Amino acid sequence: MTGRILRRVQLTADTFEWEVEADALARAAHPGQFVMVRLHGGSERIPLTLADFDTARGVVTLVVLAAGKSTREMMAAPEGTTLQSLAGPLGMPSEIPAVERVTLVGGGLGVAPLYPQVKAFRAAGARVTAVVGFRSRARVFWEDRFAAAGDELIVVTEDGTRGERGRVTDVLARRIADSSCGERVVAIGPLAMMRACAELTRAVAVPTIVSLNPIMVDGTGMCGSCRVLVGGRMRFACVEGPEFDGHAVDFADLALRQPRFRAEERRARAVEESCRLVAAADRSEQSG
Ligand SMILES: Cc1cc2nc3c(=O)[nH]c(=O)nc-3n(C[C@H](O)[C@H](O)[C@H](O)COP(=O)(O)OP(=O)(O)OC[C@H]3O[C@@H](n4cnc5c(N)ncnc54)[C@H](O)[C@@H]3O)c2cc1C
Ligand code: FES
Repeated sequence: MTGRILRRVQLTADTFEWEVEADALARAAHPGQFVMVRLHGGSERIPLTLADFDTARGVVTLVVLAAGKSTREMMAAPEGTTLQSLAGPLGMPSEIPAVERVTLVGGGLGVAPLYPQVKAFRAAGARVTAVVGFRSRARVFWEDRFAAAGDELIVVTEDGTRGERGRVTDVLARRIADSSCGERVVAIGPLAMMRACAELTRAVAVPTIVSLNPIMVDGTGMCGSCRVLVGGRMRFACVEGPEFDGHAVDFADLALRQPRFRAEERRARAVEESCRLVAAADRSEQSG
């Protein structure tokens, strides 16, 4: 399957949104699922969570942080680009149980994959509170979308430049203390944030779902790269997740496994930088 970038929006300095024309994918998609994207023949396959999908228009929305070589190349791709491949939807759909009240917590880029769940829980009749946290105002995105889709939106920034000053865990702790966090919590964001949310809700036994982003290679259960320890059992996040019971995830094991490709990522960045310098030198030689 492939897809064409219909619309590209720069959300922050290093984060962008793509609307991709992919009719079959949009029709098959569910909240919580992801796709494997390859920009061109020479690039890596990158796992990206579906941040939205519109069955009527046949489009899916992806929100991407330019973290390294491949995602920076994606950020430079113009509207109209046809992706070399787009595989999905992959992974298990989010569980959307019938609850009266739910608190959905997103941190940084994790805010985007939370959005389909805001819509799904609301459609299932729950009162939805979204708590979204960013480092500062410059990193805030999709505030308007969350305000429109949920019942209540609480924005927090670490430096207080937008919304409340503090962290999403401060808000979650407050909601636990005043018994307003509901019967379920979903937390998506950096590992440390999801771990802290799970610890807070463990104390009051509120079921808490987290979405894990271990290194994925094939995304189809073949390579074993995405192994995570959940409830003492090895699970493959790409086919059995990426969402799991946050009270059962072994976050310490995950934190140890995550950086194992750092050397290769550094090498890729160094090659990218030297290619950029050579191209710049060629350009200045030609113009001079
Ligand atoms: C299920 C899942 C869903 C994801 N959803 C999104 C999303 O919606 N938006 C988004 O911006 N990012 C998402 N990511 C992370 C994204 O895939 C990585 O940021 C991307 O692969 C980085 O590639 P790079 O070459 O630009 O950077 P690199 O320099 O290769 O890596 C930068 C960092 O990205 C992570 N990473 C690199 N390769 C992979 C990989 N194959 N699998 C997982 N993590 C990797 C590593 O933690 C690494 O430290 C998701 C990852 C997973 C596993
Ligand atoms: S990414 Fe290969 S088994 Fe999950």
